[in-house]
Amino acid sequence: MSKVVTSDKSFAETLVAWQKKHGRNHLPWQNTQDPYRVWLSEIMLQQTQVSTVLDYYAKFLKHFPTVADLAAASQDQVMGLWSGLGYYSRARNLHQCAKDVMTKFGGQFPQTAESLMSLPGIGRSTAAAVASFCFSERVAIMDGNVKRVLTRVWAYGADLSVSKNEKVLWQMAEEALPTQQIQTAMPRYSQGLMDLGATICLSRKPLCEACPVRGECQACALGEPEKFPVKTRKIKRSSEVLWLLLAQNKQGQVWLEKRPASGIWASLYSVPVFDSEESLRTAVFGNASSSESKAKAKAKTQAMSKVSMEILPTFKHVLTHKDLHCHVVKLALSKDPSSSETGAWWSEEDWQVLGLPTPIRHLLSNSL
Ligand code: ADE
Repeated sequence: MSKVVTSDKSFAETLVAWQKKHGRNHLPWQNTQDPYRVWLSEIMLQQTQVSTVLDYYAKFLKHFPTVADLAAASQDQVMGLWSGLGYYSRARNLHQCAKDVMTKFGGQFPQTAESLMSLPGIGRSTAAAVASFCFSERVAIMDGNVKRVLTRVWAYGADLSVSKNEKVLWQMAEEALPTQQIQTAMPRYSQGLMDLGATICLSRKPLCEACPVRGECQACALGEPEKFPVKTRKIKRSSEVLWLLLAQNKQGQVWLEKRPASGIWASLYSVPVFDSEESLRTAVFGNASSSESKAKAKAKTQAMSKVSMEILPTFKHVLTHKDLHCHVVKLALSKDPSSSETGAWWSEEDWQVLGLPTPIRHLLSNSL
């Protein structure tokens, strides 16, 4: 009779035991069941690595120790503290979510994944992370790391760009959840999946020798763990040209405008952005097409306020979906336009703490 090597422990039990001994157990958002703290960490960790999140997490908790403090903050304050973390829709949703917790849930986060999902910025996996960590709910998480772990364990080769295939994986993930001692097992199991994905089941060079579930990993048995997960659809990349107007007055202040609530750099502050050199020039010199000739308008603007104009080197900023090719026109003004609804003059001390897109922060730091 052939002997099949099997473990008497389930996948979930093996993972829970491994997490306790070899997982990450001292991150600042662990060893707490406060949903505010766990939720905050999960939003920050969605597209950002642990080492970067650590400082931002501490800074947010210092300024906003509770969800009520965050809800009461101004949008500018939230965006200012988030500045540099990127994916700014996370910060806008974070703030709205805190306000909704106050107004719709009486200041307490709801305790089930299903109701957590009704809040802005909380998707199925984030809801499951908060509910399993804080309330031991038996629900499956499914972020990028977890998809990698599970598709390998089951050698699940269906294309995850197809939503039906991803749904099946969610279903399988639910069936694999712990069935015993749920109260202690659920938080460890969720953390264990994340830890395994982040430290052992690496994308390009998985460390299978150190893996607690290698004995039951079908991708490892096939000898090709890197082949999973299968995802055929690549994100379509595009590029965009921007013309940035870096205007400085005699006091060294810089003109900044708050971006609209949607589109690029939504709700952040920025130097004025134009889609062409022409539209930037029209804004600076006025529209010279009617009664005044272009030359006259130019002379007038120059006499009034502009003392120098300089084209700075172009730079490229890479976003997830597009490359931004940024041209910069630097303008030194002797006479200032006064602050308006759209913009105002900001001293270095003041713009330092504003929510600025990273390339704009670099531009101000390096080109003034
Ligand atoms: N990424 C997402 N959630 C995490 C967590 N709780 N710990 C470490 N990395 C994570």
